[in-house]
Amino acid sequence: MPISPNIPRGAALAVADLLDNCARIEKGQEVLLLAQIDGLYGGDNMVDETAVAWIQNALQHRGINASVLWIDEKVRPHQWRYLSNTSGEFIFDIMLSWWSRYIGISPYSEKPIRLTVDAGRIVKIEGGQEAKALKDFMASMVAKVGNGVYDFKCLHFGVHPQARISAHQCPNPLYRRLIEHAHSSCIHVHVGAPPATDDYPYWVHCTGDTRTATFKVGDTVIHDRGYLKALENPKVLEVARKYPDRPGVDPVPLHY
Ligand SMILES: [Fe+2]
Repeated sequence: MPISPNIPRGAALAVADLLDNCARIEKGQEVLLLAQIDGLYGGDNMVDETAVAWIQNALQHRGINASVLWIDEKVRPHQWRYLSNTSGEFIFDIMLSWWSRYIGISPYSEKPIRLTVDAGRIVKIEGGQEAKALKDFMASMVAKVGNGVYDFKCLHFGVHPQARISAHQCPNPLYRRLIEHAHSSCIHVHVGAPPATDDYPYWVHCTGDTRTATFKVGDTVIHDRGYLKALENPKVLEVARKYPDRPGVDPVPLHY
């Protein structure tokens, strides 16, 4: 486990919120941190040694004896909201960095990747060198996780209106993309949705991300050109008012 490195202010605030307001940690407690190893391999329990070290360090600064236990167990299916029988085209030029690193490409594509989807299956992948690498990667995964690697049936999005960071604050593009991925404007689809297997007990979570989409369910607008409409819900604003020293939910102009 690495020594806790310099922690950005935003991350320190988030860790403090987690410990004080969510976990309600009190002095004198013994704390055991459980961390899922699958998160290190792209599973949906996204975590890394640095983040866990930050939490452990923050606990120790509060005078608490904190231990860490890494758990290696087969992932359970996540309660995603599934799409059914989707057809069309999905075009994206960014993806979750957790998997792009295994594919060997940048999470920021030079050329957009175009997926053609027919009845819930990805039938064509087109674009530049990133699309070719993605196509080859998916073909190589068939032997590990089966044909579910071409399923197109999952869409969800981030909820944090301030989850963005500049390259000056976070020079590592993989971490930067990971943070942006949680922004409320970021809608992503799963490029393939195979379940974990006994031989490959990890959740393949390769994604295609968009940040300026309009997304409707029936007549209800969920996102209006990237703005998550739920952020103006009175109940959300009421919660935000409880924390005036936090970044809040106001939209800030973004430049893509
Ligand atoms: Fe996802």
